[in-house]
Amino acid sequence: MLDFTIRPVRVQDAAFINEMKRMDGVRENILGITSERETKLEDSIRNSTENDHLLVAEVQENGLKKVVGMIGMNVGRKPRQRHSASIGIMVHADYQGKGIGKALFKEVIDLADNWLMLVRLELTVFVENDRAVKLYQSLGFQIEGTKKYGAIRNGKYADEYIMARYNIGGMLK
Ligand SMILES: CC(C)(COP(=O)(O)OP(=O)(O)OC[C@H]1O[C@@H](n2cnc3c(N)ncnc32)[C@H](O)[C@@H]1OP(=O)(O)O)[C@@H](O)C(=O)NCCC(=O)NCCS
Repeated sequence: MLDFTIRPVRVQDAAFINEMKRMDGVRENILGITSERETKLEDSIRNSTENDHLLVAEVQENGLKKVVGMIGMNVGRKPRQRHSASIGIMVHADYQGKGIGKALFKEVIDLADNWLMLVRLELTVFVENDRAVKLYQSLGFQIEGTKKYGAIRNGKYADEYIMARYNIGGMLK
């Protein structure tokens, strides 16, 4: 079992996160591109607000700490969408399949259900990203629809699922 800790993001994590976003095995499944700059990421961490809940998973190897996963939950800013949040997640290619993604998700779901009391969590995922779709279904997300040709993925306009999980009046408890 891999030992890792989950904590809020820091500006100093930008280098690790940028490397992760750009790497094969991650980039094609998120909306990353290889020219993505570290400074842009630093700015977005610095400029994040109390509506942006950014957590990272950190491992320690040979005495050095390294960020190998990240989840972001952005709560709706408009008054009538404050009950709703969108989620994005990635785990370093060498650390996938070790329970990090699930642990990051559980942390954010606890925040959403018990501390922010959100009703709707939503995300988009490429239709062919089986592993992610299964993980989300296991956490109570359902497929709401398909965005045909929703985003570019390695030379193609690829379809994306819109998935969501509802917690109305604590019904998921
Ligand atoms: C999708 C992703 C976030 C999942 O995180 P992870 O740390 O790899 O997943 P976990 O180890 O926590 O496993 C979660 C579930 O995925 C499934 N899974 C794990 N490894 C798998 C593998 N090699 N093949 C198929 N399914 C696998 C299992 O069903 C597991 O559930 P279980 O614990 O009940 O068995 C991660 O693989 C990733 O970042 N991929 C690239 C970027 C991406 O796709 N982001 C999501 C965009 S919407």
